[in-house]
Amino acid sequence: MARAGDAHRRELIADYFGASSRLRTLRHTDAFGAAIFVVDFDRGPRHYRTLGSFGPNFGGAAPGEPQVTEQSSMDLLYPAQLVFHYERLMSLAFALCEQPVSSLLLGVGGAAMWRFLRAYLPECAPILVDNDEAVVAIARRWFYLSQSVIIDTAERFLAGTKDRYDVILVDLYNAQGPALFDERFWRRCMDALAPGGCIATNWADFAVNQAVRPMADAQQMLAQSRGLDTYFVTRRGFRDNLVQYLPTGPEREPEAITGALERFARARHLPDRGRGILEHCIIAPRFPIGS
Ligand SMILES: C[S@@+](CC[C@H](N)C(=O)[O-])C[C@H]1O[C@@H](n2cnc3c(N)ncnc32)[C@H](O)[C@@H]1O
Repeated sequence: MARAGDAHRRELIADYFGASSRLRTLRHTDAFGAAIFVVDFDRGPRHYRTLGSFGPNFGGAAPGEPQVTEQSSMDLLYPAQLVFHYERLMSLAFALCEQPVSSLLLGVGGAAMWRFLRAYLPECAPILVDNDEAVVAIARRWFYLSQSVIIDTAERFLAGTKDRYDVILVDLYNAQGPALFDERFWRRCMDALAPGGCIATNWADFAVNQAVRPMADAQQMLAQSRGLDTYFVTRRGFRDNLVQYLPTGPEREPEAITGALERFARARHLPDRGRGILEHCIIAPRFPIGS
């Protein structure tokens, strides 16, 4: 159903993605707390489909104006390839685990990681959790998702599971930004990790969103209290997304990620041999800003 402000939202989408972009659907969801949309657009020879939302404006040009936020994206010609750089960084959690046969994807969005896994790690069985039925319906209709999804909050799901996963990816965002977690959440994530497994967490807008650092620090302190540690990777100069890794296998030090990527790219035949994933990145043992 159309809502007040939809005409304005359509304009913002056209401004952001270009006048030749094609809006496929625009709807409101209560769980997400905002309008979400699917838009197709072209960048030179590439054709993309993006799941977007309207989120808080972290220092954008027009304060108070809802800001278009990209939640997930798909290359229409190569749907299994990860479009966002941060998703490629997150996929390295699979490289940091010796034999990933199970994974827990917290936050389904446009199912980019699910498509990647199906194509590049077909032996790894993912469990999908998302608290927004409307987002999941969009993933089915527009992003080729054909697997069942547990509709629940990540917090509740983890509180109720006794299963263990080799890889856990935490990518939980709604209209207000990141879902807010306390130490208990990280404890449950770590308890749900199989021996030698790896957790990767996406921190969007990490340089400007004040809520991020305390959560990242809480995860790191908890890891340290268990004799483990986390480290961080972000693209130099971009300050958009930061990925926090918590590996528990034999290669835990930050330097190991480069070799892990090389082996992973070779073994899995990653596009462009994984080039560009760690290029121009900062690999830091601590949260990379304001220490
Ligand atoms: C950025 S998207 C995830 C994109 C996804 N990684 C992909 O591969 O396309 C964030 C998702 O988190 C979900 N979400 C936000 N808070 C949540 C929570 N507390 N529990 C479960 N899902 C949540 C949203 O509904 C949204 O689908």
